[in-house]
Parts: sequence; C-alpha cells; structure tokens
Amino acid sequence: MHIKKFTLRVLMAGVLSLLLATPGLTAQDTKAAQRKPMSIEVAQYTKRPPVNKKTVAEGRRLYENACIFCHGDKADGKGPVAYFLSRDTAPLPRDFTMGPYKFRSTESGEPPMDEDLFRTITKGIKGYMPGFAALDAADRWKLVYYIESLIPEDFEDVEPVPIKVVGRPVPMTAMSVQRGYRLYQKAKCWECHGGGGEGNGEKAPKLKDDWDIPLPPANLSMPSSFKAGNRPEDLYRTILTGLDGGAMPSSQEQFEGREQELWDLVNYIRSLSTL
Ligand code: HEC
Ligand code: HEC
Repeated sequence: MHIKKFTLRVLMAGVLSLLLATPGLTAQDTKAAQRKPMSIEVAQYTKRPPVNKKTVAEGRRLYENACIFCHGDKADGKGPVAYFLSRDTAPLPRDFTMGPYKFRSTESGEPPMDEDLFRTITKGIKGYMPGFAALDAADRWKLVYYIESLIPEDFEDVEPVPIKVVGRPVPMTAMSVQRGYRLYQKAKCWECHGGGGEGNGEKAPKLKDDWDIPLPPANLSMPSSFKAGNRPEDLYRTILTGLDGGAMPSSQEQFEGREQELWDLVNYIRSLSTL
C-alpha cells in the first residue's frame, strides 16, 4: 500500500514537472510574438529634436565637451586618452569616420539604428566608456545626429531594419538550460569562450579586432561585464547580430529559421553565473 502511494506520488510529480517545464515556446507564444514584436530597445526614447544644421552643430559642441578626449578632434578615435586606454589590450575608441559599429539591433555589416547609438551613449560601455544618462535626452540625440553626420552615406537615405525578434524569454528551467548547453556546444561558442564560458577557449589568445589590438572573449560567467547589456533580450541581440569590428561573430546564419532556440542559449549563459 505504502509503495503504491509512493509510486503514485512520483508519477504525479513527474507529470506535473513536465507540465510546468514548458519546453521552449508553444505555437501560441510564437504567434503572439509575431503579432507584437518584443521591444529590443529600438522603441522610441523620449521626443527627439529635429535633425538640421543647427542641432548637428550643437551635437559637435557637446562632443567637444564630453567625447573629444577619447574619440579625438577629427572623431577618428585618436583622442589623447585613447593612447592610455589602448596601448595594451583595450579596444580603441570608435572611429566615427569609418565604423564599423559593434552595438546594433541590425544585421552584421549594417549601420546601427539611431536608437542603438542613443542607447550606447546613455548606458556607456562597461570598462571603457562612461554612460551619459546625466546629459539631457535632447542633447544625447544631438550627439547621435553629429556622429551620423560624419558618415552620411551610411546614415542618410538609408532606413536601417532591426533584426526580427522571434519569441520571447523562456523560463529558466533545467531542461531549457540543458538545451542551451547543447547549442553552446554545437555553435562552437566554446572555441573562444571556453568550456565553462570563462573566456579561455583555445582560440582566445589569438583573437584580435579589426585594428589588430588583442581582444579577449567575454567571460560569460561575469555578465556584469557585458558591454551590450545582460538582460535576456540584450543577449539575444548580441548573439544574433554579433559585435562587428571585434571578434564576436554574428550567429544569424547558423540560427536562421530557428531563432527561438536562442532563448535556451540565453538561459544557458545566464546559468553560468548567479547574475
Ligand atoms: C573614456 C573614453 C571615452 C569617452 C569619454 C567616450 N567614449 Fe565612446 N567609446 C570609447 C571606447 C574605448 C569605445 C570602444 C569600445 C569597444 O569597442 O568595445 C567607445 C565606443 C563608442 C561608441 C560605440 C559605437 C559602436 O556601436 O561600436 C559610441 C556610439 C560612442 N563611443 C560614443 C561616444 C560619445 C557620443 C561620447 C561623448 C558623449 C563618448 N563616446 C565618450 C571611449 C570613450
Ligand atoms: C571567434 C571567437 C568567438 C566565438 C566563436 C564566439 N564569441 Fe562571443 N565574444 C568573442 C569576443 C572576442 C567577445 C568580446 C567582443 C568585444 O568586446 O568586442 C565576445 C563577446 C561575447 C559576449 C559579451 C557581449 C557583450 O555585451 O560584451 C557574449 C554574451 C558572447 N560573446 C556570447 C557568445 C555565444 C553565445 C557564442 C556562440 C553562439 C559566441 N559568443 C561565439 C568571441 C567569440
């Protein structure tokens, strides 16, 4: 009698956990997500001032106050502080006369959205650049306009298209983390980031950015160090778009048509730390 009751309980617990641990997304979830794409912070930030000669010139003036030391008078990334930042291993401040751009919601090789630049300026880049949230939002938009005016062929007349977000974050169940682990293996993230995600993969010592400066892979067990944010939607964006000009490749081709599996990979990365 006792044994029977026990078996019954185990069976019930099994059924219950199967029900609770929804594997991946249901068809309904995917449909709902397609109707209303999840924001990956390309949503409008505050009201923007108009783009015209005056606001671009004001952007340049703000740039001279806040950015010139690092990004340089010619905006080519060669300000006086750049030397101290980058003589060993740190990336150079971005060259705004050329790009490429790392922090985008757009496909690899494309210019970023206005909102991507606004987000980077607002939040800063962990370890390398302060955030400028304390500047008036209108001023941050003017900085965006000034930067964009430096490569008109990339930013005028072109309407950048953000990547599609398929699905949304899934609960961090043991099953999801396990599926994410398998994707991490299959996508060979370990080649650079290492088996435990600590940034010590076999390719790590040789990685360099486009400017020939050594660029170590991120330590995935330290999400507070991620430059482009560590929320699930940030990780989804980083993995799909890659960080151009660095050594972090875009996974878009690899995950074409099965983008929703990325939410499991995101859970696996988040499981490597206690956030
Ligand atoms: C302390 C030095 C420093 C200051 C000050 C600074 N930056 Fe940066 N910035 C950097 C570095 C270094 C990078 C490159 C980081 C990387 O590639 O990982 C960078 C990158 C950027 C990017 C990234 C573009 C991309 O997606 O690749 C933008 C945009 C940017 N800076 C704008 C600004 C603006 C606007 C200001 C002034 C309001 C500013 N920065 C001030 C050091 C600085
Ligand atoms: C060829 C080497 C390489 C491979 C393969 C690679 N990465 Fe990276 N990854 C890097 C480098 C280098 C950086 C640091 C880039 C930088 O700071 O510009 C990075 C950064 C990251 C970051 C931190 C981003 C941030 O905001 O700072 C995450 C998360 C990440 N990689 C996840 C992955 C995942 C998941 C995979 C597998 C799908 C993967 N990487 C494959 C080299 C690689």
